[in-house]
Amino acid sequence: MTINESIESVRKSFRTDLDSFPSDPKEIDSLRSVYFGRKGLIAGLYISLADLPNNEKPEAGQSINNFKKKLQTDFDAKASTVIDVASTTHNQSFDLSLPGFPITNGSIHPLQQTLDEIKSIFKSVGFKVAYGPEIEDDYHNFEALNIPKHHPARDMQDTFFVKDNIVLRTHTSNVQIHLMEEREPPLRYIVPGRVYRNESVSYKSYCLFHQIEGLFVDKNVSMADLKGILEYFVKQFFGESTVMRFRPSFFPFTEPSAEVDIWDKKRGKWMEILGCGMIDPNVFENVGYDSSIWHGYAFGMGIERMTMLKYGIDDIRLFYQNDIRFLEQF
Ligand code: PHE
Repeated sequence: MTINESIESVRKSFRTDLDSFPSDPKEIDSLRSVYFGRKGLIAGLYISLADLPNNEKPEAGQSINNFKKKLQTDFDAKASTVIDVASTTHNQSFDLSLPGFPITNGSIHPLQQTLDEIKSIFKSVGFKVAYGPEIEDDYHNFEALNIPKHHPARDMQDTFFVKDNIVLRTHTSNVQIHLMEEREPPLRYIVPGRVYRNESVSYKSYCLFHQIEGLFVDKNVSMADLKGILEYFVKQFFGESTVMRFRPSFFPFTEPSAEVDIWDKKRGKWMEILGCGMIDPNVFENVGYDSSIWHGYAFGMGIERMTMLKYGIDDIRLFYQNDIRFLEQF
């Protein structure tokens, strides 16, 4: 057989193999070595070169080279179509037992958790939830609450003014006035929301924080009712064994007024948690309630402060930095 005859016979068998080209990657590989392997048919052609007379070798070698190149291109072209199709349609296998990519869940912000908890405690004893405006007029934030003109809270130093007479509310007590203006007694509401104060930012104060206001108006409401509800709340929220005290205080819109402290075992001292009192008759007058018939109490607490005490957090700014290492702990 001449070299050309040998080439022809390899070409023939290659055509047949192309027509019945396998789709399995392993079979494709073994077919590849039938032709291009170290002991394959093409290698065999090169070996038979040795038998030729020297003057014929260059030309024959060139023919084999060209033939090999052509075969390789055809083979690769065929293989690539088969493998592409295989990987997109047939034969694709999934290992269903492989572990998936981990899904990282977010967590509920600690302030929201505290708020939810406080809300559910008060709802369980009959309080409804109401909301009010954060941008407020001087009347609802101060005047109607019996806060006199010269009161320090009305100073630019303590309050953010939007414009003359319009402020960012400094407490949620403004909603006491809205509720009583809009509805007839009896009333039993808690009012969560953001409040703003123009204070220098430090570990214990921030320009923005959250409060929950409580408002109860009915006939024959006494300070004993107020003490009862707050004691119930504190034990539910901080635990049955929490030690608390009422301390006389002053707010222009309540009379008498008090603050509640709880004993912080970790710090070894009393920590103030809320302000409260019996609604001042002047406030009732401002909203058109007859203070000889209606009595009531109100209280207001800071949600940041409650959260800090409950979880031993010592810097209020952590709530606003969105540091995942902090948030993940809740
Ligand atoms: N508004 C008061 C404060 O921000 C808290 C308070 C609310 C006190 C209701 C008494 C009654 O400090």
